[in-house]
Amino acid sequence: MLSFFNRFKRTTDRQQTYKPVILVTGCGSGVGLALSKFLYQIESYRVVITARPHSLEFLQKTFKESDRFLIRALDITSEANRSAVVAEVFKKWGAINILVNNAGISYRSVVEHMTEADEFRQMSTNYLGPVGLIRAVLPHMRNRGRGKIINVSSVSGMLAMPTMASYSASKYALEGMSEALWYEARPLGISVSLVQPGFINSESFRKVNYSEFSAPDARTGPYVDYYEKMEPFIERLMHKSITTPESIARLIVKLIRTENPPLWVPATLDAFVFYYLRRLVPRRILLPILFWALPGARRWAADYSQKRQ
Ligand SMILES: NC(=O)c1ccc[n+]([C@@H]2O[C@H](COP(=O)([O-])OP(=O)(O)OC[C@H]3O[C@@H](n4cnc5c(N)ncnc54)[C@H](OP(=O)(O)O)[C@@H]3O)[C@@H](O)[C@H]2O)c1
Repeated sequence: MLSFFNRFKRTTDRQQTYKPVILVTGCGSGVGLALSKFLYQIESYRVVITARPHSLEFLQKTFKESDRFLIRALDITSEANRSAVVAEVFKKWGAINILVNNAGISYRSVVEHMTEADEFRQMSTNYLGPVGLIRAVLPHMRNRGRGKIINVSSVSGMLAMPTMASYSASKYALEGMSEALWYEARPLGISVSLVQPGFINSESFRKVNYSEFSAPDARTGPYVDYYEKMEPFIERLMHKSITTPESIARLIVKLIRTENPPLWVPATLDAFVFYYLRRLVPRRILLPILFWALPGARRWAADYSQKRQ
């Protein structure tokens, strides 16, 4: 009888001392930084925030490492780097219970202006890196019979936009993989979620990457109109957005706390609208409507086009 109560006590003690381990990528700015600030305050989690080496000094000045809060260098495009960080966390805490794949980059370029190297960089940051980290933590989550994977996607993973093809492709890839993983992980007690922000009111869209041919001072020819119309259009939508990195981070904290979070989590007003538009309006109708809504799209490349009238 006594041993029964002792066993029960041990279980409650364990529950009370159980501190899930959360690993977050891309914490140097934007959503990752906002999420780090929230998690820093929540004593009941053990947290590993990660960033590329150039952001580490800033993070070390912003946060104080402790027995529940670590700051580590992690370039998610490096397999060796991913394995080293995961191994270190397992050695120290024996677990990664929640993975937040937040790091991402965005190229601004029409398809024709991308190079093979640019495509690879876009895909390795937004898709190959995150899926590599997932592979590294899955065996452990599977053995425990629980775990949570939260991938930060985008409205661009639902609908593509001109001058952002490669970014969209990377988020479509992330969405496709996550959807398949949802089926695979569900019987194992692991949840998979895709946070889908639309436009966020932040400076992050200024940090876009350009290919050699899409860089502002390299542009010539038929695609100049595309960039000149799309850039201010995107910037306007960003600045009008009521969503901030903090509101996305708050939503991620909510998902962390939710027992069985859903797969798709539209995270901004425009994401909700596009989520339902995409499902309710046939694409062959939706695409021409969106084309008409793009600034001056019917006149793009007018002086160059060989299109037959
Ligand atoms: N901003 C938006 O409007 C928007 C909209 C939809 C979806 N999203 C998605 O939301 C997520 C967060 O974006 P954000 O708005 O917070 O942008 P952000 O401020 O540019 O943050 C992205 C973070 O990713 C990190 N990163 C880039 N390459 C990396 C690599 N190879 N290894 C590790 N970290 C890397 C950057 O780190 P460094 O500091 O080391 O450069 C940066 O801290 C991204 O996945 C993005 O695609 C953003």
